[in-house]
Amino acid sequence: MRRAPVLIVDDDDALRATLHDALEILPVEVDVASGGREALARLGERSYAVVATDLVMKDVDGFAVLAEAKRRSPHGRVIMLTGHGSREVAVQAMQRGATYYIEKPVDLTEFRTKVGKCLDEHHKDVEYGELRARVERESGIRGIIGQDQKIVRLLETVRQIAPTAASVLVRGESGTGKELVARAIHELSPRRERPFVALNCGGLAEGTIESELFGHQKGSFTGAIADREGKFEYADGGTLFLDEVGEMPLSTQVKLLRVLEEREVARLGSNKSRRVDVRVVAATNADLEARVKENSFREDLYYRLKVVTLNLPPLRERSGDIKLLVEHYLRHFAKLHGKDVESIDRDALVALVRYEWPGNVRELRNAVESMVVRAHGNILTVSDLPPEIGAPPPVEHEGWEFLAGRTAQEVERNHIRVTLQQTEGNRQKAATALGISERTLYRKIKEYGL
Ligand SMILES: Nc1ncnc2c1ncn2[C@@H]1O[C@H](COP(=O)(O)OP(=O)(O)OP(=O)(O)O)[C@@H](O)[C@H]1O
Ligand SMILES: [Mg+2]
Repeated sequence: MRRAPVLIVDDDDALRATLHDALEILPVEVDVASGGREALARLGERSYAVVATDLVMKDVDGFAVLAEAKRRSPHGRVIMLTGHGSREVAVQAMQRGATYYIEKPVDLTEFRTKVGKCLDEHHKDVEYGELRARVERESGIRGIIGQDQKIVRLLETVRQIAPTAASVLVRGESGTGKELVARAIHELSPRRERPFVALNCGGLAEGTIESELFGHQKGSFTGAIADREGKFEYADGGTLFLDEVGEMPLSTQVKLLRVLEEREVARLGSNKSRRVDVRVVAATNADLEARVKENSFREDLYYRLKVVTLNLPPLRERSGDIKLLVEHYLRHFAKLHGKDVESIDRDALVALVRYEWPGNVRELRNAVESMVVRAHGNILTVSDLPPEIGAPPPVEHEGWEFLAGRTAQEVERNHIRVTLQQTEGNRQKAATALGISERTLYRKIKEYGL
């Protein structure tokens, strides 16, 4: 393992040497600075995992060192060495981003322990940062997690069509990320500096929906006590996101189509039209084709909206991404709720991968949050799973002795065959359940002629 760089800053020569020696048994490489100014110079040269600095020094004080250390490496940790009984400054140091403070005279065991803890946390942060960066690099779009081919291809299309003004219809089951994708389209378009405005068409009365979309003039209906701009005007130059577009009343559909074709909008009760430049992204989890057939959705509007169609896959069709999402949300919620949850064990993960996820990513997100919030230890286990998910079937110990006398290869071949049956041939799920990589599984399938 690479030694982690640590910087010790103190103008007391003897103490500096003692602290230096105290870290000998840790996997670190220690640099020292005999004052604040020298420390700032060091910080400019390399990035430190941990900086332990004295507070009161003649030239530049510990607060300045702390600030510079944080600026240079946000993941880096700082330990402040303070005079005896100076709680107040210690608190100040923590508020400014120090991870720990240690009162002088320094207890060397405490010093070593705290440096060790800082190293662990630093290491995890860096690892996680790298994971996030890799995922973002591979997906290319912030906030959307997934490496499955279905997602990768979808995001390629998003990148391609985002810069145009084409209407987009985003389809997918509930919780698959339709709104997330709509926002990504906006963010990747030249409209990103202009508003992204959302309207959920589900459950709104016809009058409300129209006044929301097109605005109204004072007195145009009871309750219209003042002129009001609609979302089309407000979104001018930007993107209008019409969620659950399948629920829009027919009469509103007619008006919407007219606005889209004429690129002009008139407020309810007014005959003055204003030009608007709005890109529409619509979303639905309804069967629009069926609605067109039964005449509850206008065919002309349907074609007008689906210039580009994006189909978001349900989570169960990209179960290889479940691990990634779980890890992401585990970190996220542990931090948010101040819980010491660090990871999830294999059995619990297998159960999550096997689960069907009818509510897709939203359901997974909520499940991980509730697991993190209620967790007792720092590793999530099967006992933390929500009841609807449940543990994977236990290994049946009784059966094992019948296998005695079989070759290891026979046993493995059969085990893989049965697992594949259980996952209905889904290799991603099978590989996770078997605890081997998909590539290894693929090789074994060929090898055993399965
Ligand atoms: N690929 C993804 N990566 C990370 N987070 C995701 C992903 N897909 C969805 N999410 C998260 O899942 C939640 C639901 O996403 P979103 O609201 O976009 O779904 P939706 O398809 O609009 O759902 P609904 O149809 O119920 O409105 C959000 O918290 C979102 O951030
Ligand atoms: Mg939504």
